Amino acid sequence: MGPEGNGNTNAVGETDVLEPRVPDGNVLDVLGLRKTYESEGVPVRALRGVDFVMEPGEFVAVMGPSGCGKSTLLNLVAGLDTPTDGEISVAGESLVGKDENDLARMRRRHIGIVFQFFNLLEGMSVLENVTLPAIIAGMPRRQAETRARDLLDLLGLADKARNAPGVLSGGQRQRLAIARALANKPTLVLADEPTGALDSAGGLEVLELFRRLHAGGQAILMVTHDQKVADAAGRIVRMRDGRIDDGTEEDMSVTITESITSTTWEP
Ligand SMILES: Nc1ncnc2c1ncn2[C@@H]1O[C@H](COP(=O)(O)OP(=O)(O)OP(=O)(O)O)[C@@H](O)[C@H]1O
Ligand SMILES: [Mg+2]
Repeated sequence: MGPEGNGNTNAVGETDVLEPRVPDGNVLDVLGLRKTYESEGVPVRALRGVDFVMEPGEFVAVMGPSGCGKSTLLNLVAGLDTPTDGEISVAGESLVGKDENDLARMRRRHIGIVFQFFNLLEGMSVLENVTLPAIIAGMPRRQAETRARDLLDLLGLADKARNAPGVLSGGQRQRLAIARALANKPTLVLADEPTGALDSAGGLEVLELFRRLHAGGQAILMVTHDQKVADAAGRIVRMRDGRIDDGTEEDMSVTITESITSTTWEP
């Protein structure tokens, strides 16, 4: 067995299959993170100095108005884009300054990503969708397939293994996307509005699954617009205008609004 103890056991128990990578220190360290996009020559300051830490096993929901920088934050943590300034470390390993190959290697090792619109490989079977990430990460095919079957089993999709993703319901498609995200036992699962494209039943399925992962010690960073979804998390982080909103400015605006309302608008 390798130094990370990743070998599958024969007995398929939930803890064996879902067991996440748990680092000694923090799962995530974000310090002074800034991202400025250029849009037709105009700078768009999507992140304006974000500091944020996640400990092992934490389930954090990120909320905030459209355009406040939530997806930008997730993409930077995933190493899918590079920051303008600041530091990001996943499991103590810095992402900043790494080239594409090293970022891809880190992503395979540490990150599982779940998108709003699933991003499944439609030309492949359900099983292949979950097997592929582990094969790309260097796991032998037989072992990758065994792990994929175990994951599909636990996520209630075992009977769909040979189907194309197209036959699945929305909730099932997102569960498949989550199975794929778990293929390499990630340190951190990132999810950008994972219930955003689902009806309420599908949303509940996915939410229940996230709860189970969290109970199994999986660190999860999830963006959502839905307060009920956010309530499943252990901590809610609010963002506004490219920053973490610690409530101080909001308190002031609430006070001002209240005083205006009470003095001017009261009937
Ligand atoms: N590739 C890009 N080029 C230029 N501007 C961008 C790019 N990506 C995002 N932005 C801008 O950066 C800001 C933050 O965008 P982001 O997608 O992070 O917001 P969000 O909080 O995820 O919003 P939503 O809730 O609508 O998904 C927005 O003003 C957006 O227009
Ligand atoms: Mg977004």
